[in-house]
Amino acid sequence: MTVDSPRPETLPDALPSAPEPQRPAPFDWLDEAAARRRSAGLVRTLRPRAADEPLLDLASNDYLGLVRHPRVTRAAADAALRWGGGATGSRLVTGSTALHAELEAELAAFCGAEAALVFSSGYTANLAAVTALTDADTVIVSDALNHASLIDGCRLSRARVARAAHRSPDAVRAELAARAEPRALVVSDSVFSVDGDAAPLAGHAAACRDHGAALLVDDAHGLGVLGPGGAGALAAAGLAGAPDVVATVTLSKSLGSQGGAVLGPRRVIEHLVQSARTFIFDTGLAPAAVGAALGALRLLREQPERAERARAVGRELSDRLTAAGLDASVPDAAVVSVRVAAPEKALAWAAACREQGVLVGCFRPPSVPDRWSRLRLTARADLTREQIAHAVEVLVRAEPSR
Ligand SMILES: Cc1ncc(COP(=O)(O)O)c(C=O)c1O
Repeated sequence: MTVDSPRPETLPDALPSAPEPQRPAPFDWLDEAAARRRSAGLVRTLRPRAADEPLLDLASNDYLGLVRHPRVTRAAADAALRWGGGATGSRLVTGSTALHAELEAELAAFCGAEAALVFSSGYTANLAAVTALTDADTVIVSDALNHASLIDGCRLSRARVARAAHRSPDAVRAELAARAEPRALVVSDSVFSVDGDAAPLAGHAAACRDHGAALLVDDAHGLGVLGPGGAGALAAAGLAGAPDVVATVTLSKSLGSQGGAVLGPRRVIEHLVQSARTFIFDTGLAPAAVGAALGALRLLREQPERAERARAVGRELSDRLTAAGLDASVPDAAVVSVRVAAPEKALAWAAACREQGVLVGCFRPPSVPDRWSRLRLTARADLTREQIAHAVEVLVRAEPSR
């Protein structure tokens, strides 16, 4: 038996197809974007440095001068020799070594937290903390000048995000009071990376307590510099170990290594292990970085004066720059910035400093909170008075006339 299918005797004429519009090649728009950046003086340049570059470094985040300390580099090398060049897998599969567990325990004890969890960077630690601790029933109240990684965490979260005025517990309080969501997370840098100003953590914590909110503090620039012996901004504010406060840190600044961590109540850390995507779907931190961070942490415990020294260098640098007539910030930690009106001038100034042997950071829009560009100087604990004086001399001499 056959089944007849309806078959037209003749096929209809094909409809004439509309002419394809002339489209630019897929990446042509990048050239236009590059041209706009060039004309605004905002082109960024990668500059690989040599290992033996004879420059006085005021641009890195090596606040305690530990990145090349023999005990830190030895600890990194020993860890690599023992555990290998990489972690071999994500933390929940093969990427957790006994060394990771040691670092987590010692970091938590050092900062006065119940528990800690190590991530492959401070960036992924921030993404994890913000996204895992919020949901569609949460409002995130975020300081207007928070670091990009916190902002990206907010964007990835399903929460409503309210931007609060910079360093304002009153603004935080108002957002918390007006919210309809049952849950709230207040998010702030402890020390803001561009100008080095500190957040009013005690005020934020009080606002959180009054309104049933949790507080998340990114202590990237506070660990190793603020608090007793460098235990961080939460310790300095009397908030270490608080049941409703979480901190994130990076291992790449004061601890002279690489990687990040979240510190807080044990149930928060356990929740991150179960649910934080940048923990679960990311290869564990390389053993050498874990070893270096552990080496630096142990050194800092033995030499707690390094933290106070970094703060003192910051104050001296700022005082000398101001006395020389430059528009320098007053540091709350170990970052000093010098405001410059035009991005081109900031760039030329940093380049002139470099030619004269001093390396300074250069921040321009869009990495700055306002239209001011900045030269950014880090006050390393190991800078001598002569080096500080020399750096200021070079900055003054190298300033372009406009
Ligand atoms: C405030 C702040 N948070 C987070 C990070 C990210 O840390 P990491 O470089 O370890 O990814 C940085 C800097 O790099 C930072 O300045």
